Amino acid sequence: MKLPESQVAVLQAASANDAQSIERLADETGLKPETVTGAAFELESAGLVTVEESTDETVEITEEGREYVDDDLPEVRLYEAAIDAGADEAAVQMGRVIGQSGLEGPQVDIALSNYARKGYGTIESGEIVADPDADPERDAEAEALAALDAGESVEDESVLEQLESRGLATLSESTVRSVTLTDDGVTALMEGVETAETVGQLTPEMLTSGEWRDVEFAEYNVEADAERIDGGKTHILRQTANRVKDTLVGMGFEEMEGPHADADFWINDALFMPQDHPARTHWDRFALSNPTEIDDLPEDLVARVEDAHHNGVGEDGEGYHSPWSEDFARAIALRGHTTSLSMRYLSGHEIGDLEPPQRFFSVEKVYRNDTLDPTHLLEFFQIEGWVMAEDLSVRDLMGTFEEFYEQFGITDLQYKPHYNPYTEPSFELFGEHPTTGELVEVGNSGMFREEVLRPLGVDCDVMAWGLSLERLLMLMYGFEDIRDIHGTLCDLELLRETEVLH
Ligand code: PHE
Repeated sequence: MKLPESQVAVLQAASANDAQSIERLADETGLKPETVTGAAFELESAGLVTVEESTDETVEITEEGREYVDDDLPEVRLYEAAIDAGADEAAVQMGRVIGQSGLEGPQVDIALSNYARKGYGTIESGEIVADPDADPERDAEAEALAALDAGESVEDESVLEQLESRGLATLSESTVRSVTLTDDGVTALMEGVETAETVGQLTPEMLTSGEWRDVEFAEYNVEADAERIDGGKTHILRQTANRVKDTLVGMGFEEMEGPHADADFWINDALFMPQDHPARTHWDRFALSNPTEIDDLPEDLVARVEDAHHNGVGEDGEGYHSPWSEDFARAIALRGHTTSLSMRYLSGHEIGDLEPPQRFFSVEKVYRNDTLDPTHLLEFFQIEGWVMAEDLSVRDLMGTFEEFYEQFGITDLQYKPHYNPYTEPSFELFGEHPTTGELVEVGNSGMFREEVLRPLGVDCDVMAWGLSLERLLMLMYGFEDIRDIHGTLCDLELLRETEVLH
């Protein structure tokens, strides 16, 4: 029988009555463990060896754990200081006990948070009491740390978990494989195995010389277990943003670009948002301190917008009859929605006057001073879009949403009438969360009002929306907390493992 070199080596090193670990075979053959593993799997599929797998849990003491072996656990030091101070007879001022214990910095907190949990006593209103029956000599965690430090094993899972959660030990699991010769393996060895000269890689030289015709190529086992390597990859939020862009481009939309920090004029005034609207107070917006205002607002447009705010538009127009200040409009803030971009484009300010029909979109960040919770962040990505054409209706808007969301597997949209100062009618969109079944608001939309369009110089219909990219992800992948995918608390494992469908 002819076999590749590494397989011959492993076969010869393996034994029929003694299962040998990959490490041992690697030592014996001088091959790398991964080469031995590969060879062992090949031999197994040829029926010459069996490969057994088991999971091995290794526990290691950390640097901090080792310190406590030498200096005692902080809670034990606190207990001993408390006993010395007489806290087993009467409550003692905590400051005094801490001072005597010599604990410093973060160790004080560690001591306090473990003291009562482990029954050393109680801490109440700044006073500490010690339980005279507690025995620090028999502290299970201290004993386990000492055992680990001495290279002994610890069986008590709950103590190990506690040590792990305190960062005093690390637990890890690994797969251990061992190899045993089968009867066929023994027979093959007795009959004699020879090394087959196999080639692992085809080279340009082999191709030009024609040598490739005569060599024997090594076979690869593409199903063999391999070490997992987590390379960098595009974040699923970014991947989905790109997919949203592709989808909208496919639906005939062009992309808008514009400033993240913009004049309130574009963020609010052009949208017929009254200057005393609650969303425009400092509680909701992130103002800029440098620079604080913009100077290049288009004067004609500013005058028309101001007029619309005062008097409304058209014969039956009705304005807000409240003060309107240009200074207020010039103030710069982080945009709370990307509808500021829609205003810039619709007004002709960004790329010149636009003739209907037109379709534009952006997938960009917006900033809101919300309270953080599972569905709200201080910033998120908004999928902004609008269509400008003659005679549009809410049906066109719904049809566009249905077509868009269908591409992401969402076909159960629901609509609810809503109010925006700048659209009439307006409605919010909802989708069902795939695991909780709850209705999740995914966006807000409507037909821009005359009071918005006239000053901009647009005299046909414009339907528009702002959708949340993060909420779309929640519906697509079933995330329940937006912070799993966004920001410093995000769940790296989930980000690594989520497959993005293209
Ligand atoms: N600006 C709205 C929001 O942020 C979305 C929207 C855009 C609604 C355009 C209607 C028209 O919620």
